[in-house]
Parts: sequence; C-alpha cells; structure tokens
Amino acid sequence: MKEIKLKQLVYVSNHAIHFSDDDLSQLMKKARTKNKRLNITGLLLSDNQHFLQVIEGPEISINELISDILADERHNKIDIIFNNENIFEREFSRWSMGYKILGKGLPDDYKALDNRLKDILSVAKPNGDLAHQLLIEFRNLKNSFLDI
Ligand SMILES: Cc1cc2nc3c(=O)[nH]c(=O)nc-3n(C[C@H](O)[C@H](O)[C@H](O)COP(=O)(O)O)c2cc1C
Repeated sequence: MKEIKLKQLVYVSNHAIHFSDDDLSQLMKKARTKNKRLNITGLLLSDNQHFLQVIEGPEISINELISDILADERHNKIDIIFNNENIFEREFSRWSMGYKILGKGLPDDYKALDNRLKDILSVAKPNGDLAHQLLIEFRNLKNSFLDI
C-alpha cells in the first residue's frame, strides 16, 4: 500500500483588515470544518497584527489549502518560512486548527514564550526553524490556553 506523504508548512503574514472577535470565530469555524475534511491539523497564532500558522497533513491537501490561504485577501505579505515536505508524523495532531491571540491573560510561566513569539512576528524575515521550534513549545503547553 502506498504511504501517504505528510507535509508541513509554517508561514507568517500581516492582517490586511481589522478582525473582530466575530470575524475570527467565523474564520476558525470554517477552517476547522474544512481542515477536518482535508485531514489537516495545525495551529494559528496572532499578535493582532500578524499571523503565524502551521498547517500539516497529506501533501495534496496542504497544496490545496495553501493556495486558498495565499489568495485570501484578509491578510497579505504571506511568507512561507518553514517547509517540511515529508514529515514522519504530525506534530499538531491535537488541533484541527488551534487558535491563540498572543499576550492575552496568560500565567507568568508562559510569558517568556509569549514574548519570544511576539518578537519573531515583529521582524521582517522571521527565522523558520526558530518559529517552528516556538510553535512546538506552545504545543507543549496546556490545551486550555487556546482562544475560541
Ligand atoms: C490567517 C488565515 C488562516 C486561515 N487558515 C485556514 C485553515 O486552516 N483552513 C481553512 O480551511 N481555511 C483557512 N483560512 C481561510 C482560507 O484562506 C480560505 O478562505 C478558505 O479555505 C476557503 O474555503 P472555501 O473556498 O472552501 O470556502 C485562513 C485564512 C486566514 C486569513
């Protein structure tokens, strides 16, 4: 039997519109429904100006989703900073799409990671390996930190 190739991408982008809480919950609702259909998992973080997102799943699904995401006019300056064409196993299998706004009501022991994530979003060309590493560190925190 042919093995399904799993691909993982991380990108950063800038908000092109103002996202209300309602916009974000609609976006996440649709994204999670579609991601379940496409067998995609991942995590989306935002500092209210930028997005940092990891998506992972079958190559064909990731190629389909990233072309939709690249064409989405709600954000711009999209930069794919980490591209792993053949991952052995999923790293974000817990979430069809986790979502967290950085810097919102966090316990003290989380703040150092939160600041490192905000720093990486504020530079012109974020380091992809570091962004991936920080996303993994976020994943290792408790589920209850998620928004929406
Ligand atoms: C920052 C950002 C992240 C997104 N993440 C996802 C996602 O994980 N899954 C998804 O289906 N759509 C996501 N979208 C929405 C897609 O860009 C696109 O609107 C959607 O996939 C279109 O789906 P449809 O044509 O099937 O209705 C995201 C949009 C933005 C702006």
